Amino acid sequence: MRRFLTQVREYPPRPQPSTLLVVDLNEALYTTRAMRRVRPDPIPEVAVKAMLDAAIRAPSGGNSQNWRFVTVTDPALKAPLGDLYRDAWRILQETVYKRAYERAEALGDAQTMRIRDSGEWLAENFEQVPLWVFAFSRNDRSGASIYPGVWNMMLAARGLGIGTCLTTIAGLYKQEAVFEVLGVPADKGWANSAAVSAGYPLGRWGTARRRPAHHVVFSERWGDRPAWNINEPLWLEPENYGRD
Ligand SMILES: Cc1cc2nc3c(=O)[nH]c(=O)nc-3n(C[C@H](O)[C@H](O)[C@H](O)COP(=O)(O)O)c2cc1C
Repeated sequence: MRRFLTQVREYPPRPQPSTLLVVDLNEALYTTRAMRRVRPDPIPEVAVKAMLDAAIRAPSGGNSQNWRFVTVTDPALKAPLGDLYRDAWRILQETVYKRAYERAEALGDAQTMRIRDSGEWLAENFEQVPLWVFAFSRNDRSGASIYPGVWNMMLAARGLGIGTCLTTIAGLYKQEAVFEVLGVPADKGWANSAAVSAGYPLGRWGTARRRPAHHVVFSERWGDRPAWNINEPLWLEPENYGRD
C-alpha cells in the first residue's frame, strides 16, 4: 500500500563551507561575465573545492563524465603555459580577429576594442591569475559534454565572488605543448576543451549586455518572431550594483 508523508521531515542543518554561495541564481545567471582582470590573491582551497564539486554535478552525454580538470596555481607551470597562451593569442590576433579589429579601430567601435584590450590583459598577465583550470574531455563526438561542467564551475565561482573567463585558444593552437607541460597522456584520446582563469575581480560585476532575446528567438518556425519583446533584462541590478 502506498504510504503518505503526514509530517514535513526535518533535516538537521548541515555544515557548509563558510564561503559557499553568496549570490542568488538569477544574479549569477545575469552577471557571470568574462572577468579577466583579477587580483593575484590566492583562491582558498574551500572555494576551489566548491567550484570543482559544482563542475562535476553537471550533465554530460549519457552521463559519461568523460572529463578531467587540472587546477594550476604553481608559478613553475604557469610560466610555460603563459608563453603558450600568449603565442595562441597572437595567432588569433593575426588570423581570425585581424580584419574585425582593423574594422573596429577604423570605425571607433569601442566595445570591440574593450574586449580586445581585456583579452590582451589576460594574455599579458596570465601568470598573475591565481588559478587556471584546464578542462579535458574525450570520446565525445558532439564536443558539448564538457561545457555544462565548465559553466557550472564558473557559476559557482561567481557565487563565491570569484571572476572567471572561459578560454579555448591554448587547446586550439597549442594543445600538444600544453599536454607536455601538464603531463597529459597524448595517446588516450584527451582533448583540451577549455582553460578557465579564476581570481578575485579588479573590475566590477555587471549584467551582460546582449542582443535581446526577441531578436534571436523564433516562435514555432524559423523567421517567425515571438509574440513578446524583452526590452530590458528581466533581472535588474540594484542601484549602485557592483560599486561597493
Ligand atoms: C567558447 C568560448 C571561447 C572563448 N575563448 C576565449 C579566449 O580564448 N580568450 C579570452 O580572453 N576570452 C575567451 N572567451 C570569452 C568571450 O570573449 C566572452 O565570453 C565574450 O566576449 C562575452 O564577454 P562578457 O561575458 O564579458 O560580456 C571565450 C568564450 C567562449 C564561450
